[in-house]
Amino acid sequence: MKADPAPVPKILVLASGSGTNLQALIEATRERNFPGELIAVGCNKPGAFALERAAQANIKTFVVDHTRYDSREEFDAALLAEIMRHSPDVVVLAGFMRILTRDFVRAFRGRMLNIHPSLLPAYTGLNTHQRVLDAGDRTHGVSIHFVTEELDGGPVIAQAEVTVEEADTPESLAEKVQRQEHILYPIVVRWFCEGRVQLGSEGVLFDGEPIKNPMRLPAN
Ligand code: GRF
Repeated sequence: MKADPAPVPKILVLASGSGTNLQALIEATRERNFPGELIAVGCNKPGAFALERAAQANIKTFVVDHTRYDSREEFDAALLAEIMRHSPDVVVLAGFMRILTRDFVRAFRGRMLNIHPSLLPAYTGLNTHQRVLDAGDRTHGVSIHFVTEELDGGPVIAQAEVTVEEADTPESLAEKVQRQEHILYPIVVRWFCEGRVQLGSEGVLFDGEPIKNPMRLPAN
């Protein structure tokens, strides 16, 4: 008799929007031998297309609509309760547009990842593509980091660069950055599930060793 395969880490994705990163993760985790299972998708917006993508892929979904809560604390408590029903090993924020409270973030220390469309620490916050163009930068990109109490400020695991051309607009930059996001996020989630990436007391550990700089995908 064949032994049951060893259990793999359970991945829960939180999204708010169109869910193209979610789609990339759905496809990656469906590949044979992916070392993790995408078990549920949570969303704060009832009509978000991310929910549709999850349903299409037969992944469980839940909605915690932030407009129905009077405070961030109440919303986060409801979100936490929903998440806990699935007992995930890692929470992957993929375009989840809510700022989470300190207690929520602490509950998932070292087990929550976020993707941000800039080469952090540059351009935390919103409108990164426009701000890169306004500053005349020649390089832009995406970062994946552990979520800590500091908004977009947690230790960065990996980055991918894009080159900014004269003719670029916020829209064209968003497209270029998203192309890289869809490659990079599945790679980092794989590393996490394999136990290769961890949050240490001083920052990111890769294969047990502290990294001085984020892992990089080459520019293209
Ligand atoms: C991505 O560009 C990500 O960097 C940002 O929100 C966007 C989400 O896009 N945090 P999608 O919903 O995955 O298409």
